[in-house]
Amino acid sequence: MEVKMESVETLLGSQMSKTAQLNSSTERALEDAVLSPRFYTTNFAEIDRVKIDSLRREWDALMVEYEADTNNDHFQRPADMDKDYSKVDPELYDEFVDFLISSITSEFSGCILYAEIKRKVKNEDMRTLFGYMARDESRHAGFINQWLKDFGIGIDLGFLAKTKKYTYFKPKFIYYATYLSEKIGYARYITIFRQIERKPELRFHPIFLWFEKWCNDEFRHGESFALIMRANPKLLTGINKYWIRFFILAVYATMYVRDHSRPQLYKALQISPADYDRQVLQITNEITKQVFPVTLNLDDPRFYQGLERMLALFIRMEAVKKQSTWFKKIHVAWLGAQVGIEFIRVYFLPVNDNALPSSVRMVPTW
Ligand SMILES: [Fe+2]
Ligand SMILES: [Fe+2]
Repeated sequence: MEVKMESVETLLGSQMSKTAQLNSSTERALEDAVLSPRFYTTNFAEIDRVKIDSLRREWDALMVEYEADTNNDHFQRPADMDKDYSKVDPELYDEFVDFLISSITSEFSGCILYAEIKRKVKNEDMRTLFGYMARDESRHAGFINQWLKDFGIGIDLGFLAKTKKYTYFKPKFIYYATYLSEKIGYARYITIFRQIERKPELRFHPIFLWFEKWCNDEFRHGESFALIMRANPKLLTGINKYWIRFFILAVYATMYVRDHSRPQLYKALQISPADYDRQVLQITNEITKQVFPVTLNLDDPRFYQGLERMLALFIRMEAVKKQSTWFKKIHVAWLGAQVGIEFIRVYFLPVNDNALPSSVRMVPTW
């Protein structure tokens, strides 16, 4: 891994803790479990060759939106909210902190990747886009850190950037995975925001007030990848259709399992993880029709049955990991293999073919 950090450090400026002392939350963010948010690196030379000329008008309109920077002063904790907001229900405490840590890790992972692409490519379109997106993600990550400090556990972003393992992904995989995570990020934030809008008494922490404008940033990031893919249609045909299916299922299944590990958090929001995920996946599926040639059939009962079986296997795996038997490793590997089989079974369920719309751009209406 040869990602240099100066550019990201400049971006984060004073938001970054300079201390190298490893606190427990930084440690948690460093974990490289299958379900934890990852950091990525890619082939920058290939990104340099991306052409978006065929969609120039839509692209330029998007760049004007970024330039306008309507959320410029949104991600600041207001002076009248400087009291300690860490006094959440004790039952909720660990899961909420875990939620914040995994959110900050994803935001920061995006920030690092985008900043590095900007730094390493010469293609002006790509430099401009990734510069704007790194700006947004650094604000998001910095903002979460401002609230995490109430809990006495601010994440050391500089340390995290230098120490966390980076996964190499070809550019096309970055487009599929990042497009999906931006759009699913939008769907997640807006679904929570709407729930709390309906029932304001459920807002146990002020951070939810920021989710509406926040999710519009994520929506716009997703739009950028949609344009890149639609301007380069080879990314969406032939064998790539099978890769797209793979990424959709991987992202959906990961979310399903991870959300079920936070039952108290969803109880506090008066929505079950299963219902929440169904809503989020419905929205994401609807959005991805703008660019992906296929969507998974969420109405096929075998789809959620498969996710439920994967979830049950993960729960067993967690229980086995806590045991101290000599065959623990074999047992975990066996359960892992069964997850793989279940994944393949769901992967080969019939999917829906999409007739792509003529215009790529979409507005968030959820
Ligand atoms: Fe973000
Ligand atoms: Fe984003």
